[in-house]
Amino acid sequence: MDFHYYLPTTIKTGRGISKSVGNFLRSLGHSKVFIVTDKGVQKAGVLQEIENSLKESSISFTIFSEVVPNPTSENIMEGVKKVIEYNPDSVLAVGGGSSIDTAKGISIMAKNSGNILDYEGVGKIPNDGLILTVIPTTAGTGSEVTASTIVTNTETKFKAAVISPYLFPNYAFLDAELTENLPSNVTAATGMDALTHAIESYTSKTTNPVSEALSLQAIKLIAKNIEKAYFVGNDMSNRENMLVASMLAGAAFSQSRLGNVHAISHTLGGVFNIPHGIANATLLPFVMKFNLPACPEKMVDIASALGINTSNLSIQEGAEAAIHAVIRLNKQLNIPGNIKELGVNLDALPKLIEDSMRSGNVLINPRLTTDEDIKEIIENAYYGIL
Ligand SMILES: [Fe+2]
Repeated sequence: MDFHYYLPTTIKTGRGISKSVGNFLRSLGHSKVFIVTDKGVQKAGVLQEIENSLKESSISFTIFSEVVPNPTSENIMEGVKKVIEYNPDSVLAVGGGSSIDTAKGISIMAKNSGNILDYEGVGKIPNDGLILTVIPTTAGTGSEVTASTIVTNTETKFKAAVISPYLFPNYAFLDAELTENLPSNVTAATGMDALTHAIESYTSKTTNPVSEALSLQAIKLIAKNIEKAYFVGNDMSNRENMLVASMLAGAAFSQSRLGNVHAISHTLGGVFNIPHGIANATLLPFVMKFNLPACPEKMVDIASALGINTSNLSIQEGAEAAIHAVIRLNKQLNIPGNIKELGVNLDALPKLIEDSMRSGNVLINPRLTTDEDIKEIIENAYYGIL
């Protein structure tokens, strides 16, 4: 029962709270800010109100909007060059997981030498970075409260995890108004990423009572809100609950890390550039089925959190009900039932196995996992065999 819990990020929530970021940064004594975002966020007009807030507080800023999906080390190091030239008081990320992860890399590499990929692994970064404030515009990544950033090595197509307490953002502003007009496919993909975080965190070998409580509450909120967020869209209560659930799941896995779904999905993202949330959602039932014999009671807890009455079910039936609930959700949200439809090609199987096994997430997956197991999970997910 010995455990350690550390979450230094200050979290602020509220409809419209992103408009107060200028005032807030000014209260910290900041007058020069480096904004990290992507072109989609800029086009959607989400950034405008935040820019206005900075201007009203007499904060000067520059915008780095070159963020790409599945961020690469080159992309991050390009931002590092610019942040060093600009020399701001702090960094402000506005966007989804890619923008936040890129901003984490930029902020940390402003104060450390070499390349971001030099720090792959856990606890290798020597110096803290620039103060980082993040404003997520999707509900899923949880990156606003995690100690990691995922960086694609373009030469090897490997998605490397850089993990350090210095990567926790200092401040996170959760403003559901920014997610109000998300396209439904993004709502589905990012929401299912959050559900995957919560489920993988709950069953991880390195879970603890705090992260378990966070995971279960995240699962409950997602189960109650994801379909309405997808089908209705602009109901602010659903959007708020999804944003909070995403943060809770992030806070959970920042402590416990994840499992085989993320080990394989990062590999698929690196090799085939498949969007992270969709890869996770599609893989999740296959990995849950693989993991069931190692953690059946926990799977029953997951089924209950997903809203299933498990009182008259055996442990095996309850655990299987969790898998069926995820399959049903995927169907409702129009997520493919196999990874072939996502563009995966089995010619790359040896590399997919090797890269997945290299992920630290395999080691803390509830069920002991071999190369052969990863092969079987990928093949089952490819042919849609459940
Ligand atoms: Fe994820």
